[in-house]
Amino acid sequence: MYYEPGRTPHNLPHDPFKSCVIPRPIGWISTIDEAGRHNLAPFSQFQNVTFDPPIVLFCANQRTTGKRKDSVTNAEATGEFVWNMATYALREAVNLTAQEVPPDVDEFEIAGLTKAPSRIVRPARVAESPIHFECRYLQTVRLPGNGVMGPANVVFGQVIAIHIADDAFRSDGCIDVLKLRPIARLGYYDYTSIESIFSMRIPGSEAMNAGLEGSSEKAAAILGRRAPV
Ligand SMILES: Cc1cc2nc3c(=O)[nH]c(=O)nc-3n(C[C@H](O)[C@H](O)[C@H](O)COP(=O)(O)O)c2cc1C
Repeated sequence: MYYEPGRTPHNLPHDPFKSCVIPRPIGWISTIDEAGRHNLAPFSQFQNVTFDPPIVLFCANQRTTGKRKDSVTNAEATGEFVWNMATYALREAVNLTAQEVPPDVDEFEIAGLTKAPSRIVRPARVAESPIHFECRYLQTVRLPGNGVMGPANVVFGQVIAIHIADDAFRSDGCIDVLKLRPIARLGYYDYTSIESIFSMRIPGSEAMNAGLEGSSEKAAAILGRRAPV
């Protein structure tokens, strides 16, 4: 089949678009507003975009009321947000924190989650989550869109502190992903969790593999620190 989004119909019972770019990791984003009130919400339009320095983004569409989502407003107002890993064990809590509630409602309380203080930024971390990034807000890219929910705010933040639970590692020092079972969004109402892994290296270049690993130290040891050309 073939269709042009927004121009020609797909003629399917459900829109297939979100089921094509999968799985999408979940940015479970905690923020505070200027009054210090806590906010927590999941965003599957989430990704790391580079690693040296590490930068992540989450993309929020507008609320069903046409207003900007609290996570965006708060990150812009305070300059900070925290990413919390969403795991299979936390799936119901993740879902509960997606409810569209007013800014004075604390989604940590809705989902029965515990706040852990961050070290550098003010938004709390989800204590039950095994991995957290403390992020400093960088910028928002505003994308026009259709209808009430279509307009989108893509929020970029630099990861300035990383917390990983001590028991989240394998004996070889790598994160035990199969133990943590991070969840990710598929299309429709579907999710997946990581239950199998395979490994591959790029042939021929250890520098390329340092990039694949995301290791600034190994890349610098191989290439040195060079200014961009
Ligand atoms: C798993 C999951 C992923 C979601 N991903 C997004 C997303 O990428 N962008 C978005 O605008 N809303 C997304 N939502 C909906 C938001 O979580 C929801 O609108 C939430 O109320 C936003 O909260 P806020 O206004 O406190 O920021 C998602 C919901 C779920 C359950």
